Amino acid sequence: MTARDPLHAADPDGAQAFGVYIHWPFCLSKCPYCDFNSHVRREAIDEPRFVKAFAAEIAATAARIPGRTVSTIFFGGGTPSLMQPATVAALIEGVAKAWRIAPDAEVTLEANPTSVEAGRFRGYRGAGVNRVSLGVQALDDRALTELGRMHSAREALDAVGVARAIFDRYSFDLIYARPAQTPGQWSQELRAALAEATDHVSLYQLTIEPETPFATLHAAGKLRPPDEDTARALYDVTQEICAAHGLPAYEVSNHARPGGECRHNLVYWRANEYAGIGPGAHGRLDIAGVRHATATEKRPEAWLARVETQGHGLIADEKLTLAERADEFLLMGLRLAEGIDPAHYERIAGRALDPERIAMLHQHGLVETSHSGRLRVTPPGFPVLDAVVADLAA
Ligand SMILES: C[S@@+](CC[C@H](N)C(=O)[O-])C[C@H]1O[C@@H](n2cnc3c(N)ncnc32)[C@H](O)[C@@H]1O
Ligand code: SF4
Repeated sequence: MTARDPLHAADPDGAQAFGVYIHWPFCLSKCPYCDFNSHVRREAIDEPRFVKAFAAEIAATAARIPGRTVSTIFFGGGTPSLMQPATVAALIEGVAKAWRIAPDAEVTLEANPTSVEAGRFRGYRGAGVNRVSLGVQALDDRALTELGRMHSAREALDAVGVARAIFDRYSFDLIYARPAQTPGQWSQELRAALAEATDHVSLYQLTIEPETPFATLHAAGKLRPPDEDTARALYDVTQEICAAHGLPAYEVSNHARPGGECRHNLVYWRANEYAGIGPGAHGRLDIAGVRHATATEKRPEAWLARVETQGHGLIADEKLTLAERADEFLLMGLRLAEGIDPAHYERIAGRALDPERIAMLHQHGLVETSHSGRLRVTPPGFPVLDAVVADLAA
């Protein structure tokens, strides 16, 4: 076993979490707002061929970072719920051959909320998945059509019901700050959604991503997201309603009952180590005390060809300097309500955060220091998080 990186030692929960992200890059159709690495294919996907390639890439990654204990696995996409349960089982088996999987590992799969996909949930549970995350997006049929979704609100809620019956843990995503959405309408929709939630929801403000059909419509003046004040009001009611419901924000867009947080996403935000497997996946690997930022070929067929010829799909493998690593720690950690441990920052960066800048941000009420000495962004600070991080990282 290789020695673990001592910089990991200061996790708030004391654990050395290690996550495995597996990217399934296909969807049935492309939603006009989405810029994830997702592709639509007319022909059927050769899943056994992909399984072999995924297994090869997992093995190649494990050869670089052997001896880890996997605390979380996350199947993201694209639409992983298009995979056959046998494919998911084979991929989990590939992970188990490469590393030890902790007995209490969290294994999440992202699913689109259609009845066809919900029909596979039992199979996924049998394969070892213990949490699903559903892309509900809206509980309003008109909004769903405008978002280019292939399911109705009823169908999405039915899929949530199936998830609830099969999995102890599930989450769903909603997109808000949609064109013409008012705080009143959104409050009603959000309350209805929370009645269907148990321990976790992700609530994303609509982002106009460059080079998407929404960006074209936006540029042509045919799609108008809410103005800044309305967007702020929508954000504020989101925080109030979720907190009152017992699901406060633990991250900018993620809300959970305490203890119900997505452990896999915490791996990213707490700057722990993770392997990125599959087309366009990113990883952070600690090799001989140095953190490597990895990325794989994005195009599915090109990734497949690379893995089949060279055993992995890596196109980037960059050693991060301590300054880069410290910036990343700050950028990710301040997204969390729990904030960061400044002493951990100092251990990575080799220098402390600037006390004058912290004092200034304190004065403006944008950050606070907890009893245990953690530095965290305050509720008024979160809407201007980018500026707070830029100030501290400078
Ligand atoms: C990888 S996608 C979801 C998985 C699944 N394919 C689905 O659509 O149900 C993750 C989530 O990101 C959110 N998302 C994607 N593009 C977005 C955008 N432009 N603005 C806000 N949220 C977005 C959606 O809520 C989506 O469910
Ligand atoms: S939102 Fe989900 S279903 Fe739509 S294109 Fe993106 S990944 Fe695919």
